[in-house]
Amino acid sequence: MSVSIKTPQEIEKMRIAGRLTSEVLDYIGPFVKAGVTTNELDRLCHDLIVNVQQAIPAPLNYAPNGHTPYPKSICTSINHQICHGVPSEKVLKNGDIVNLDITVIKDGYHGDSSRMFYVGEPSIQARRLCETTYKAMWRGINQVKPGAYLGDIGYAIQSFVEPLGYSVVREFCGHGIGATFHEEPQVLHYGRPKTGLKLEAGMVFTIEPMINAGKKEIKQLNDGWTVVTRDHSLSAQYEHTILVTDTGFEVLTVSAGTPPPP
Ligand code: MF3
Ligand code: CO
Ligand code: CO
Repeated sequence: MSVSIKTPQEIEKMRIAGRLTSEVLDYIGPFVKAGVTTNELDRLCHDLIVNVQQAIPAPLNYAPNGHTPYPKSICTSINHQICHGVPSEKVLKNGDIVNLDITVIKDGYHGDSSRMFYVGEPSIQARRLCETTYKAMWRGINQVKPGAYLGDIGYAIQSFVEPLGYSVVREFCGHGIGATFHEEPQVLHYGRPKTGLKLEAGMVFTIEPMINAGKKEIKQLNDGWTVVTRDHSLSAQYEHTILVTDTGFEVLTVSAGTPPPP
C-alpha cells in the first residue's frame, strides 16, 4: 500500500466535499447553546447534509475493522471526551466545550473537519486549551510543502504544546483521505523533524491534533467509540483536510465561516 497522489479531477471533487464539510460547521455553530442535546445537533447536521447538500454523512454506520458500526452522523466530544463522542440525549450546559467533527462524502470524495465550540462562557483554562489546540493545528499545517516530512508536522505540534504543560494524544492521528475516509499515510501529531514520509504535491491528508490539558493517556468507553482522557482532564481538537500543492498547502475544508489562521 502507498500514499495516493490525487489527480486534478479528484482535487476538484475534494474541494467541493471540503467546502460542504466546513459549511456544516458554519451552520451548526449557532445551535450549540445550553439546553440543546447532542442528538439534536446530530439531527440538524444529518438533515442539512442529506436533504440540502445531497451528500452522505460518512460516520453513519462507519465500521472500520473491529468496531461496531458508528450509530450517528457526526461526532460530539464534550469536555474530557477526546474524540468519537456519540450524540445522545445529553444536554449541553453553560461552560462546556464541545468538538463537532463532520465528515461529508460528495460525488465519492470525503471532506473531514472539526472545530471546538463554547457553550456560553468557558473557563479561562478551557478557552486557553482550545486556542492552543487551534494554534497547534496551524503550526502543523504551516509545515506542509513538497519535500517536507510528516515528522516536521508532528514535531511542530508537540514542541509547541508540551512546554505549555499539555499533552498530545498518541492513539489517534491524522490520515490520508480521498475516495476512502481513512487511508495512508498516518499523520502523527508528535515526532521528530526530517523523519517519516516525504511530502509530494497531490497528497491529501488531515491534520487533527487531540491535545489534553493533563496527561496523554486515554480510556475507551463501553459504547465502543467514545474516547476520554484517563485523568478526566479537558481535551480539545481541531481538524482540517489539507492538499499538498506545488508551493505549499491548500486547506480544502474552507467556507465563509472558517476561522482565520491565528
Ligand atoms: N472524523 C473522524 C476523523 O477525523 C473519524 C470519525 S469515525 C466515526 O478521522 F465513526 F466515529 F465517525
Ligand atoms: Co479525520
Ligand atoms: Co474528523
